[in-house]
Amino acid sequence: VETKTTPAPPAYGHHLRRHWLLEPDIFYLNHGSFGATPRRVLAAQTAWRERMEQQPVRFMTKELPAALRAAAGELAGFLGTQGENLVFVDNATTGVNTVLRSLPWKPEDELVLCNHAYPAVKNAAAFVSGHAGVRVREAEIPFPLSGEEEIVAAFAAAITPATRLVIVDHVSSPLAVIFPLAPLVSLCHERGIPVLVDGAHAPGMVPVELDALGADWYVGNCHKWLWAPKGCAFLFAAPRVQEATHPLVISHGWMKGYVTEFDWTGTRDPSGWLAATAALEFHRSLDPPRFRAYIHELAVQAATELVKAWDTTVPAPLPLFGAMVTLPIPTAVMADKSTADRIHDALWERYRAEAPVLSFNGRLWIRISGQVYNEPVDYQVLADAVPAILRDLKLS
Ligand SMILES: Cc1ncc(COP(=O)(O)O)c(C=O)c1O
Repeated sequence: VETKTTPAPPAYGHHLRRHWLLEPDIFYLNHGSFGATPRRVLAAQTAWRERMEQQPVRFMTKELPAALRAAAGELAGFLGTQGENLVFVDNATTGVNTVLRSLPWKPEDELVLCNHAYPAVKNAAAFVSGHAGVRVREAEIPFPLSGEEEIVAAFAAAITPATRLVIVDHVSSPLAVIFPLAPLVSLCHERGIPVLVDGAHAPGMVPVELDALGADWYVGNCHKWLWAPKGCAFLFAAPRVQEATHPLVISHGWMKGYVTEFDWTGTRDPSGWLAATAALEFHRSLDPPRFRAYIHELAVQAATELVKAWDTTVPAPLPLFGAMVTLPIPTAVMADKSTADRIHDALWERYRAEAPVLSFNGRLWIRISGQVYNEPVDYQVLADAVPAILRDLKLS
């Protein structure tokens, strides 16, 4: 007897769009910049808000402390550490500032970060430099990049006996490349230098095992690739540096220990942090190892096809990318931010394609993201749209 079976729907792709509020009929190729929060996570956040407003005093004084620790514990478990090492902050920028402002800087001390560090992080370093007389050194990472040894070599060249902190990215924002954290942490620790990892893009996109990594601090966003509400991020501090780590805002918890200091920094809406648990639940329900492979494949396949269409090349070995790839825009025109913005705006206005266009190293680049709601067809629009825009803007 012939049995007819209906083929199973693909595990990932457009049918998952129903879980997000994203406008229909747009090519959303930039999950990286601000994430996108699923409906059910927003619903969980709303439920926490309503709970808070039913009896604000009871909530803030009796329920919140335990709820926050439960959420931190869940998140810590996902990230390979314990809740007591992890506190919530609003975003990666806050986490980085927190560490920079906690350290007892002295004039002549040096701080190392890379030339492609996130601009807000560079500003935070410049602020410390201006106030404490700290010298900021940049590890010059080439791009195009031939391999991850070039990243390690760049940091090794920037470290000196005066280096007091090294900031390394986990996933670079402009390059979209995953940094080799284990050799970078060893490089610094062998010289007795603490390491702060800027993992703004990493949690949810690539595996993060905080205890095994052994960094001193790790800052990560939950609102990008973990699908938590905006304003949900964390700071991990290894036990040995917790006593020296203080929130930017000093409040009731001062001198009462790491977790207590961070868990209350004044009255605020904690619903985004508490909804991290719902984000993790949804994330886990979609089988993280499998969908990480899907979103990586999606991005690198799209990149491979686009460089072929544009007669250019991928700027780093494909395995170095996670779920984002940065590609050169096929033009020799001198790069500047306003040209990048004009190309970005034309892509959105004429083609409804959202992807960041960047200007660095004297060239223009475009970064594409893969997410579970994307399919290969989403990227095809760029193959013709980018050259057409370059022609129209007289940039080709
Ligand atoms: C490497 C890196 N650091 C920090 C940030 C800042 O993240 P947030 O805006 O959540 O503070 C980003 C944002 O894209 C980033 O890519």
